[in-house]
Amino acid sequence: MIMETEREEGRNAAEEKDVLILAVESSCDETAAAVVRNGREILSNVISSQIELHTKFGGVVPEIASRKHIEKINQVIGQALEDAGVGLSDITAVGVTYGPGLVGALLVGVAEAKAIAWAAKKPLVGVHHIEGHVSANYIEHPDLEPPFVCLIVSGGHTHLVIVKDYGEFEILGRTRDDAAGEAFDKVARAVGLGYPGGPKIDRAAKEGDPHAIEFPRARVEGSPYDFSFSGLKSAVLNYINKARMTGQEIPVADLAASFQNAVVEALVSRAVLAAKEYGYSRLAIAGGVASNSALRAAMEEACRRENLTFYSPSPVYCTDNAAMIGAAAYYEYKKGIRHGWDLNAVPNLKLGER
Ligand code: KG4
Ligand code: ZN
Repeated sequence: MIMETEREEGRNAAEEKDVLILAVESSCDETAAAVVRNGREILSNVISSQIELHTKFGGVVPEIASRKHIEKINQVIGQALEDAGVGLSDITAVGVTYGPGLVGALLVGVAEAKAIAWAAKKPLVGVHHIEGHVSANYIEHPDLEPPFVCLIVSGGHTHLVIVKDYGEFEILGRTRDDAAGEAFDKVARAVGLGYPGGPKIDRAAKEGDPHAIEFPRARVEGSPYDFSFSGLKSAVLNYINKARMTGQEIPVADLAASFQNAVVEALVSRAVLAAKEYGYSRLAIAGGVASNSALRAAMEEACRRENLTFYSPSPVYCTDNAAMIGAAAYYEYKKGIRHGWDLNAVPNLKLGER
């Protein structure tokens, strides 16, 4: 149940004094907590990553992720408060990711945030994980306010949106199959680079030639802003199989660079086209894949060429963290959004849904 208080009431409360959000994030394999002042100033940002734990399985094991969140969450929240130099009584509200993500993992953060908010008598604000990713852009760019175009590329999502207002999105395009991060992870696994694929491909590609292998660039007929990565992924897998069958060595660096180049071209061309066609001068990126060095460089270059202002969060705010959840929770809080004690984890929460 969402309790929407009068907008005026929310606004007045926010204007009275600083709004301090204690934010919690546990949707996948990072247990994270942060304290954020007025949506933009990070007082603390604690991330406990489980990556090493999942590496030996080649991907995130949901049951292990949930258990690890339970082990870590109190410690991580305690550290976030300590680093910020505040106590629970100083906090204005508790923000928490309640979807989308792994249900068991989400539940840990949601239950914890509810318990803290209830005990400390603070309002609870549920946050959409992807809205969090977009809001990571507000942290280091005080001048950035909606509207703008944003490309969201993570392990589970690939969306091209107009951010109409804080937390208000118009979806222009999305992936028809794999998410961009998923494609990175699958290709990395196939070529033997292991998990997590994105950073490994990024690193390997630095030594390779992005034009060494011509991989296909798929277009979705009639949907200029939609993405499709399954054809590219199959082409890479076919290339690897053929090389193995003929006893050829796989040129890992060239393959990584050529695959990455194909993904980057697909992402950049659509994002720039959307900004130009819809008449927005500002273009932002968000999500784990937004930390990719080739994507960042290509976006910057394309935006310079097209006279667009490019925004991106620092890599640490691109991959999962709670600072971005605190930024998003602040704007939800200011709108008067409050969640009840019946807030539940919603693993397939749609963008724009509350
Ligand atoms: O946003 P995120 O941390 O979690 C989700 O919400 O999914 O994104 C994780 C995804 C993974 O697929 C990971 O391989 C990818 O982001 N990723 C990268 C890079 N760093 C993380 N992909 C490409 N290049 C990177 N440097
Ligand atoms: Zn994420």
